Amino acid sequence: MKKISDYWDKKAKQLKQDPAATMGDVCLRELEINSIVRQLKKTDEVLDVGCGNGFTTAICAEKVKSIIGIDFSEEMINQSNQVMNSLKKKLKNIKFRQMDILNLEFEKNSFDAAISERCLINVQSWQNQKKALLQLKKVIKPKGFLLMIEGTTQGLACLNKARKKIGLHEIKKHWHNVLFDKKLFNRFIKRHFKVIDIQSFGSYYFISRIVHPLLVMPKEPRFKAKINQIARKIALEMPAFNDISINNLYILQPKK
Ligand SMILES: C[S@@+](CC[C@H](N)C(=O)[O-])C[C@H]1O[C@@H](n2cnc3c(N)ncnc32)[C@H](O)[C@@H]1O
Repeated sequence: MKKISDYWDKKAKQLKQDPAATMGDVCLRELEINSIVRQLKKTDEVLDVGCGNGFTTAICAEKVKSIIGIDFSEEMINQSNQVMNSLKKKLKNIKFRQMDILNLEFEKNSFDAAISERCLINVQSWQNQKKALLQLKKVIKPKGFLLMIEGTTQGLACLNKARKKIGLHEIKKHWHNVLFDKKLFNRFIKRHFKVIDIQSFGSYYFISRIVHPLLVMPKEPRFKAKINQIARKIALEMPAFNDISINNLYILQPKK
């Protein structure tokens, strides 16, 4: 675990408040944030777990009653506090705390919504990921929502299968990610949560991870390329290719 928090401390020191500090693909990040924000209401009290440098947290703060971002990386929380201080429009409804998702220090039923944007895939075993999911279940109100953007091994495998067929190299999983096994994950989720919706970013993955690399081959594709910005626009309006979407938004309601 120390290895993971050290990694994120280092990233925070290097990239500070840059949105790319926690996700190189900034277009995909925008899609993720958009999909989360659409689910939030003005009256919501929200928890953002593994908030990184607070980039998403600050955007969500504009839409909700209050939001608390937590992260176990001290440096990420330092950056989050700086993001907050540098905002032109001062937001009084946002707080950050250093905390481990495996030990959430909040009362039961505290939040209308909890967000996990690629935090759980950083938790280093299925055993601990389940523990984290139960921690989240506990702090969300009975009619509240867990908005979770996380990845599966099956999503990555499907994308790689498609890439292989057309001569593209395999995309390797980052060493610090433990992607969910879809079967185990679905079984566990269905026991503890009601699945309201699952939204994919498949169109974006298709264009950015298949069309774009073929277009620029043998050069490497760039995350900030114009075609990825186009892919983002398309994915907003035309969801498709669900199978190759490594990450998905899961909208879940706790079964209490
Ligand atoms: C991939 S980053 C995502 C950050 C942010 N949610 C975003 O979308 O940019 C994962 C974050 O989760 C944090 N994290 C990983 N394991 C954690 C844990 N056990 N408790 C709290 N935060 C954790 C890391 O420090 C890191 O900031």
